Amino acid sequence: MGISKNAQVVLERRYLIKDKDGNTIETVDEMFHRVADAIASSEKMYENGEDAGKLAEVFYDMMTKLEFLPNSPTLMNAGKDLGQLSACFVLPVDDSMESIFEAIKQAALIHKSGGGTGFSFSRLRCEGSVVNSTGGVASGPISFMKVFNVATEAVKQGGSRRGANMGILRIDHPDILKFIDCKSNNKEITNFNISVGLTEAFMKAAEKGDDYDLVDPHTKETVGKLNAAKVFDKIVEAAWRNGEPGIIFLDRLNRDNIVPSQGEIESTNPCGEQPLLPYESCNLGSINLTKMLKKNGESWEFDWKKVEKTVKNAVHFLDNVIDVNKYPIEEIDFTTKQTRKIGLGVMGWADSLLMMKIPYNSTEAIELGERLMKFINEVGREKSQEIAAKRGTFPLFEESILPKDKPQRNGTITTIAPTGTLSIIAECSSGVEPIFGYVFVRNIMDGTEMLEVNSVLKEELERRGLYSEALMKRIAKEGSIAHIEEIPEDIRRVFVSSHDISPEDHIRMQAAFQKYTDNAVSKTVNFSHAATEEDVAEVYKLAFRLGCKGVTIYRDGSRDEQVLNIGKVN
Ligand code: CDP
Repeated sequence: MGISKNAQVVLERRYLIKDKDGNTIETVDEMFHRVADAIASSEKMYENGEDAGKLAEVFYDMMTKLEFLPNSPTLMNAGKDLGQLSACFVLPVDDSMESIFEAIKQAALIHKSGGGTGFSFSRLRCEGSVVNSTGGVASGPISFMKVFNVATEAVKQGGSRRGANMGILRIDHPDILKFIDCKSNNKEITNFNISVGLTEAFMKAAEKGDDYDLVDPHTKETVGKLNAAKVFDKIVEAAWRNGEPGIIFLDRLNRDNIVPSQGEIESTNPCGEQPLLPYESCNLGSINLTKMLKKNGESWEFDWKKVEKTVKNAVHFLDNVIDVNKYPIEEIDFTTKQTRKIGLGVMGWADSLLMMKIPYNSTEAIELGERLMKFINEVGREKSQEIAAKRGTFPLFEESILPKDKPQRNGTITTIAPTGTLSIIAECSSGVEPIFGYVFVRNIMDGTEMLEVNSVLKEELERRGLYSEALMKRIAKEGSIAHIEEIPEDIRRVFVSSHDISPEDHIRMQAAFQKYTDNAVSKTVNFSHAATEEDVAEVYKLAFRLGCKGVTIYRDGSRDEQVLNIGKVN
């Protein structure tokens, strides 16, 4: 199968089975067989299950063609003793020592198995408040977050990846100002992404410049007031400074909480795309859109029949994952199976647009994104209804807010993940993000430089006889092809990169996909180094108006150790 060199390296390092001496004893092909067989084997749990052997072939086929890939833990662990297959978990943290340290233990078990954890710290009493049993004073959410952080640091995820966490604090928690600034030093709480949980009431108060109440979660009493506009500015300033905190709109997450009778959604998974109830987990999977295109004469367009078929097989795959998954703790096993949430998404969106010659920052692209996601969501739902007809709905369906005339197998169906590693394996652009850079210069250890060029751009330039190494080095240096005049205008218009796209267009694309996504959309809005705090504030307000569930921003160069520098990657 056509796996790239980078993919081979990633898979060998972390996904393929090794013996006790660390030698790889599995090929990529064997890995896909292992995963396909394990996930198809769930058919045997049902009297009316399909032929597991035939289904395994269907799953194997769509994975090896790189049309669909499940999240990393499924690729790593399916068919093995560990068998933990989900990327996303949310754990409850109550206002007691028992609960705090129980959550740390549970997170450690999850991290060991390759999953990531989200927590809301909003229930913890504020710093300095009284502790009844000892008469001492409470440390507050931020100091406990540091304990979670250190524990995460110590547990290297099952030799695979280091644990990722999300930490959320509600805007009306008395320690909110400390939380907003708790990552202003890049070296602190490094194993957490943090987000402020905003409410609609807060957003309205911020717009009007009103004060709002701070509520002690322990006593439920109002213990102070802050000016909403000023706190909003503080969040903006901190995010402008180094990208943290992000924001999430809690009321929106709860408007889409399908089982409000089970409690409130307080947190998402580490990268923000999957809101979950405490003890829920979710397994994700992504369709590689570049494989969903077909040629029409000289140009590319979506093959809607192929999208339909792939979505249906993917939903079947992800529903089976819930059954064969080995959950790290009993409560998670139970809670996950109560709603049977799955998160099907896409990757390779930007590359597909390039192939279709549609600029990412165009109305056409935004409309097509919306249409595509609507289709995926509808077909996914149909498939989930088909499975429900055979195997029953998720247990809480009757008490859910979903329409009762269409029994559904899964509480939620769609989520757009970042696809950080999956996109390397599938060799396509990640999630619904635009292309960050078309050319990277990679320094190899012996001092030689290697060029990595976006394959769609390379093909186009070669076809027109314009490709040269010197030109590629220039693109790498400038970080964009927007101002390189020897490249024809029609190419420059289409091959836009993250920094050529206005923050508003980033948000419009996020909103277009969010409109037809049950869960949330992972997206980073890129700002140029010169962007102002007002620019960031405007984007937050636009995201709120357009129905996004949260926003993550990043201003170029605003962290000392930036992972992807424009122009050069080491
Ligand atoms: O591409 P891959 O399946 O490896 O993961 P992703 O789409 O980049 O991330 C999906 C989710 O996996 C994240 O939101 C986290 O919940 C989890 N994750 C993690 O726990 N640790 C990581 N190092 C990366 C992802």
